[in-house]
Amino acid sequence: MIYSKIAGIGSFVPEKVLTNEELCNIVDTSDEWITSRTGIKERRIAEKGLTTSDIAAAAAKKALDISGLKPEDIELILVGTITPDMIFPSTACIVQDKLGLKNAAAFDISAGCSGFIYSLSVADSFIKSGKYKNILVIGADLLSRITDYEDRSTCVLFGDGGGAAVLTANIQNNRGILSTHMHSKGGHDDILMLKAGGSLMPASLESVNGREHYIKMKGSELFRYAVNYLKDIAQEAIDFNGLKPEDIDLFVPHQANVRIIEATAKKLKFPMERVFVNVEKYGNTSSGSIPIALDEAYKSGRIKENDIVLIDAIGAGLTWASSIIRW
Ligand SMILES: CC(C)(COP(=O)(O)OP(=O)(O)OC[C@H]1O[C@@H](n2cnc3c(N)ncnc32)[C@H](O)[C@@H]1OP(=O)(O)O)[C@@H](O)C(=O)NCCC(=O)NCCS
Repeated sequence: MIYSKIAGIGSFVPEKVLTNEELCNIVDTSDEWITSRTGIKERRIAEKGLTTSDIAAAAAKKALDISGLKPEDIELILVGTITPDMIFPSTACIVQDKLGLKNAAAFDISAGCSGFIYSLSVADSFIKSGKYKNILVIGADLLSRITDYEDRSTCVLFGDGGGAAVLTANIQNNRGILSTHMHSKGGHDDILMLKAGGSLMPASLESVNGREHYIKMKGSELFRYAVNYLKDIAQEAIDFNGLKPEDIDLFVPHQANVRIIEATAKKLKFPMERVFVNVEKYGNTSSGSIPIALDEAYKSGRIKENDIVLIDAIGAGLTWASSIIRW
């Protein structure tokens, strides 16, 4: 049996912090509203000129250094993102150039906030099939670039950041990804989308004036889907591996909203002491959310070798996904 083991993990967030208090100077909101509805206290915002590939490459460099692999060992680069540097070429190809990963194939995966787990799943399949041994998986987004800072119902939620994991084929023992699970449900563009800039609505004066190059979201509808689907996909992974919730050492859910995290944990009968939360520091960083949280959980000692870790996420599409990893 071949397992995809996480040989290195890293993350990177921009330096600039945007606090709830600062947001009150931009839109009609309050720290009390944002904190009580979302748990978010601050988020990171990329300075002008910083790109998704910069963040992805910075996170990937850390993961690669820890893995002990050389740049030429990487055979595939996957970047989960919905804020690529440009529509094409892919951000994965730009990261390849920035890090000199000359032997790798590279492509992006668009799955909203599920982008990192979708990418992890694709990478795991390539490793299990024997096609590749060493794959760089990245989740990175600069949501501030597509956030409407005149829309108080969305701009308080999002932030910038990314993380990366180096996966390597392991036949020595059973450490690595135990399973991945993915679902999609099209037809929900109205709940979460960015309408303009593609073939449906190319950039025009009208699209810019109509603020169509920004995220549009129906928050309370999405909230209901999130709680149910995240609970279902976590349960699917637990059942698939013949585990019980108490066998999971740490649950690292998508960091979108602490109320979604708490409601999901409650439905799974999962104590919050075994749930990792850092949404208060970064807000929702989309594909960056899970790898940033995994990196912080590992580096702070919340994840130890051989721990069973559950991750799950939901995003635009809709897409939702989960994985169980023996670290
Ligand atoms: C967005 C979200 C925090 C809103 O919380 P909610 O409890 O559903 O709140 P509602 O949408 O019902 O809005 C309640 C009121 O607050 C107001 N409001 C919205 N944003 C506000 C803000 N930043 N500050 C103050 N008031 C705000 C609304 O206008 C509404 O006012 P009204 O009742 O007078 O019309 C919540 O729905 C959510 O987190 N949804 C999921 C979003 C998400 O995770 N997206 C990414 C998924 S990958």
